[in-house]
Amino acid sequence: MSHNLLKGKKGIIFGALDEKSIAWRTALRCVEEGAEIVLTNAPFAIRMGEINQLAAQCNAPVIPADVTNLEDIENLFIKTKEHFKGGVDFILHSIGMSVNLRKGNEYTNLNYDFMQKSVDISAISFHKILQTAYKLDAINEWGSVVALSFIAAHLAFPNYNEMADIKAMLESITRSFGYKYGMKKKVRINTISQSPTYTTAGQGISGFDGFTTFAEKMSPLGNATADNCAEFAVTLFSDYTRMITMQNIFHDGGFSSTGVTEAVIATLDK
Ligand code: NAI
Repeated sequence: MSHNLLKGKKGIIFGALDEKSIAWRTALRCVEEGAEIVLTNAPFAIRMGEINQLAAQCNAPVIPADVTNLEDIENLFIKTKEHFKGGVDFILHSIGMSVNLRKGNEYTNLNYDFMQKSVDISAISFHKILQTAYKLDAINEWGSVVALSFIAAHLAFPNYNEMADIKAMLESITRSFGYKYGMKKKVRINTISQSPTYTTAGQGISGFDGFTTFAEKMSPLGNATADNCAEFAVTLFSDYTRMITMQNIFHDGGFSSTGVTEAVIATLDK
């Protein structure tokens, strides 16, 4: 059901790979709520072709951009400005990739070239996007930017590997750039710290199934789904959350505030 929360708003959605992607679910929800969007992903992901289905559903152009490449990001903003005949009101950064995780390297045996690539794709890209938008004045006053984080930025989770450190950096960029962009143009910047969610990126983490079940048992409301996350992102893009900025907001059914649950104790009690 639509509430027209984003009527008249224009946005860019990064990171829709397939229909499980958080970005895919969010793109659909934004359009349902009245927004017009531009979709973007890395050229390799676009070549896989699935994003064209989403583009047709959302009546949105697809503009390729590898987020490690500043020229690509600049081109994306210039083309988006032409398309909308002006700036955007919201941006979703839903991008993550750990090369060391992919290669099966343990946290105690990281390859640093891989790590730099992972940091560039998953955290510095957020800075690159914000800095490019800032320079090109591509986000309208009171615009809203959201990136996706995970609780491993705050608590140790053995299998999350280098992504824990990278998410901590992402959350820090959110605060540092949130200050600058808030001062300059009232643009707000936040991260959503999402429950484990069955997506391509999520399932790349070893032990993901067990951890997801654990999180479900540890959360009074259960795990938040990708569709729940999409709805929450819509509220952050809407005018009803105008004074929230520089925050990391847990969207996890209560997991982050729960010490233990009866359900977990029951599995351990002899
Ligand atoms: P996904 O695999 O569907 O999305 C990741 C996206 O990053 C893909 O569309 C991929 O093409 C894009 N990407 C990778 N390298 C890129 C590059 N160089 N340039 C541009 N785009 C690039 O997975 P998901 O889960 O939807 O991930 C979205 C975000 O949510 C990520 O930041 C992830 O860390 C975060 N997150 C995911 C959770 C989960 O359990 N799935 C939990 C908490 C946060």
